[in-house]
Amino acid sequence: MPETRFEGVDFSTFNVVEMNPDLEELGQGFKCVRNDFATYIKGRKIRLECKSLTSKCWVIEHENKIAGYITLMADKLTTDYPLLKDEGVGYNTFPAIKIGWLAADKRAKGAGRRLLEWALDYVTTNLVNRVGARFVTVDALYDADTGYDIAGYYARFGFKFVDPFEATPPTCNFRTMYFDIKMIVQELQALRHAQSN
Ligand SMILES: CC(C)(COP(=O)(O)OP(=O)(O)OC[C@H]1O[C@@H](n2cnc3c(N)ncnc32)[C@H](O)[C@@H]1OP(=O)(O)O)[C@@H](O)C(=O)NCCC(=O)NCCS
Repeated sequence: MPETRFEGVDFSTFNVVEMNPDLEELGQGFKCVRNDFATYIKGRKIRLECKSLTSKCWVIEHENKIAGYITLMADKLTTDYPLLKDEGVGYNTFPAIKIGWLAADKRAKGAGRRLLEWALDYVTTNLVNRVGARFVTVDALYDADTGYDIAGYYARFGFKFVDPFEATPPTCNFRTMYFDIKMIVQELQALRHAQSN
């Protein structure tokens, strides 16, 4: 019997590396529960976006096959109320990093979690030391035709709805969610403090 791709692989500690947009056979054989996410990694659009610096993509690979990918880009989170009022910040718009595309091969269980956890860690430990960015955002896909709704997935990681009262199905095919990076920064500070005592 042929061995199934990614069978028995534990992705929880896998390296996440930057995608090479010049690879001819990028994403070959990638299968996803959402076909549009398989088409995207194989197509021209992602390569153009990376080369034009409008998006950056990272992948998890196993035996030269992509198990999952994630794209990040600069974003602006806009809210109806001053989210950070308690901190003395009166703005309604905030610098953020957006998850553009996130997908795991349907045979690579856990690759999605690894990529999302890596992204939150990357933003916290690298980006926020260099440029102001308080939130990670995502337009959580809601496909009214099929009933596919990924918001619950992000909610498990601590993402919240920008508009908790938004009706479903939403007018566009997503609901915007955000994750507060300061939560992780504070956890890391507490950890360091505990270690130094
Ligand atoms: C979302 C996705 C990246 C998750 O990756 P994965 O490696 O398959 O899954 P993970 O190991 O990270 O997580 C699996 C868990 O998420 C849960 N989950 C999957 N889809 C979910 C959803 N729509 N709502 C809530 N939970 C969901 C699973 O039930 C599973 O739960 P368990 O750990 O309790 O068994 C993957 O399913 C995918 O590529 N989906 C299509 C593309 C997509 O929707 N991307 C997000 C667009 S914004």
